[in-house]
Amino acid sequence: MLSWLPLFLLISTAFSTLISRDESSKVIRVPFSKERSPTYHANKRANVGKTILQKLDNKDFLFYANVTLGTPGDHLRLHIDTGSSDIWVETPTSAICTKGQGGCEVGGTYNNKTSSTYEYVPGDFAITYVDGQYARGDYAKDVFRIGGVGVKDVQFGIGFEGTSEEGILGIGFEGRQSGVGRGDKPYPSLVTQMVQQNLINSRAYSVWLNDLNADAGEILFGGVDTGKFAAPLTTIPLSRRQGMDNATDFIISLRGLTVTNGSGDIQVLMNETQTVPALLDTGASFTYLPRDIANELITLVGAKTIPEYKGPAVNCSKRSLEGSVNFEFAGTTINVNIRDFIIEATDEKNADNSVLCYFGIIGVESGSVLTLGDTFLRSAYVVYDMDNEEVSIGQTIFNSTSTNIVEIGTGPSAVPSVTRPSRVVTVLATGTTANGVSLDASPTSASSAPDVSTNAAPSTRILLPTSLLTIFTTFIALFTFIL
Ligand SMILES: *[C@@H]1O[C@H](CO)[C@@H](O)[C@H](O)[C@H]1NC(C)=O
Ligand SMILES: *[C@@H]1O[C@H](CO)[C@@H](O)[C@H](O)[C@H]1NC(C)=O
Ligand SMILES: *[C@@H]1O[C@H](CO)[C@@H](O)[C@H](O)[C@H]1NC(C)=O
Ligand SMILES: *[C@@H]1O[C@H](CO)[C@@H](O)[C@H](O)[C@H]1NC(C)=O
Ligand SMILES: *[C@@H]1O[C@H](CO)[C@@H](O)[C@H](O)[C@H]1NC(C)=O
Ligand SMILES: *[C@@H]1O[C@H](CO)[C@@H](O)[C@H](O)[C@H]1NC(C)=O
Ligand SMILES: *[C@@H]1O[C@H](CO)[C@@H](O)[C@H](O)[C@H]1NC(C)=O
Repeated sequence: MLSWLPLFLLISTAFSTLISRDESSKVIRVPFSKERSPTYHANKRANVGKTILQKLDNKDFLFYANVTLGTPGDHLRLHIDTGSSDIWVETPTSAICTKGQGGCEVGGTYNNKTSSTYEYVPGDFAITYVDGQYARGDYAKDVFRIGGVGVKDVQFGIGFEGTSEEGILGIGFEGRQSGVGRGDKPYPSLVTQMVQQNLINSRAYSVWLNDLNADAGEILFGGVDTGKFAAPLTTIPLSRRQGMDNATDFIISLRGLTVTNGSGDIQVLMNETQTVPALLDTGASFTYLPRDIANELITLVGAKTIPEYKGPAVNCSKRSLEGSVNFEFAGTTINVNIRDFIIEATDEKNADNSVLCYFGIIGVESGSVLTLGDTFLRSAYVVYDMDNEEVSIGQTIFNSTSTNIVEIGTGPSAVPSVTRPSRVVTVLATGTTANGVSLDASPTSASSAPDVSTNAAPSTRILLPTSLLTIFTTFIALFTFIL
């Protein structure tokens, strides 16, 4: 890996020289803030013995971008989500905002009556996410300002009814729009509009989630910040569903998994013969691994699975554990420190005054597409390239203050990427699921993506080496959780 460094530096320097000369760089820079989900701190408690614990929530961490919508602009903060593909916003007259709990003030609302650029779009907007959240209303088009740039004619939903006081900025593939699941033709997404209006070169963006404890991260539409990852970036093709010409999800092949312990000893948990598809989803808080592998890791850190909870609990003192879980992809490995999976779960103290944490890895049944959520993605710098149906991925540099923004061009090598291993596209069979939810003809993902439950999956088989199916025999550990 290190041998690539000089070459990479050379190339990135060349690019940066180019960019610094180009005053009109076509990159839209959007810093975002991070917050624990508001629902996380409320109403999700269960009494387990003497200890008050909170149920784990898939949308535990939210990433917010400040945007304005309409003319003059209404200020909104929207939850950025790569796992869904619709933008929708709250409006002052929606059922939830008129209840008067004040929540809509935090996220902001869009009022079509006061926007001179509002345009009605025929059709009904309706989206349901896997975690049961939903929004319904009308479609509209208006001027959307993000990162200091105005994008015209951006289509979005106005949520007259719904479960959330805050809107979503879904930036996934158009093929995953909620309407497409009901047979509608896709509409041009925000990212497509950025390209069509000559604001960026191609449908690609980079996401730097940064450290759990850092309060900000960054998304670059049309650009890569080479100051935020350790070289090189490696390009990985997206998997496609059988019978489809184009990718509709950020699914890549996870080809191996190892764990390095505090003494530097490496244990192989999964090798190349067990290659499995995995969905990159910023809208999912956890990382979902085959149950037997998850259980090995759970045992390793001394975490305990509690049936009522979505994920395993662990003593926060385990943050002192050294070592990493290493995710292998074609041509690159992303290392995630074990401590970065250990996250404070509650404000409450345990009976002995210690704080409870959870372990951000969850076991799933064999045959599903795994989800690499935030506990993985924080350690990765990811370029999502929808034009080329690829992602480029590199080891993140936490809290990096270095910035070197490089424009993404057009065409097959648009992303300034140093390694580009041979391109093998995996085809996923019909009926493929991610964490039990069908990926067919409807938008889905672990947590954030819309769920169109009318398209029930006939089966959960995936097209992979048959060895995989036998390897993922389920092992359910019986833990007793005593605090
Ligand atoms: C978004 O706006 C709020 C309110 O003005 C501000 O406190 C916050 O820092 C902004 N976040 C970002 C990422 O710009
Ligand atoms: C705002 O949207 C609602 C619902 O789509 C519509 O009934 C109303 O006419 C719109 N207002 C204006 C000023 O167009
Ligand atoms: C990054 O910054 C945050 C907030 O300042 C800090 O808590 C965290 O430990 C830092 N992470 C690393 C890896 O230095
Ligand atoms: C689908 O993929 C083909 C070839 O891979 C490409 O030429 C075409 O532009 C893609 N279509 C869309 C809508 O991205
Ligand atoms: C690391 O693993 C090796 C081999 O299993 C073991 O001997 C060693 O004690 C472990 N070190 C730590 C710090 O856990
Ligand atoms: C890969 O893992 C399988 C299942 O654990 C094992 O049978 C096989 O020997 C391993 N292959 C290599 C090359 O390590
Ligand atoms: C957590 O670990 C600390 C340090 O090892 C220990 O003192 C404490 O009792 C543990 N708490 C629980 C609830 O197990």
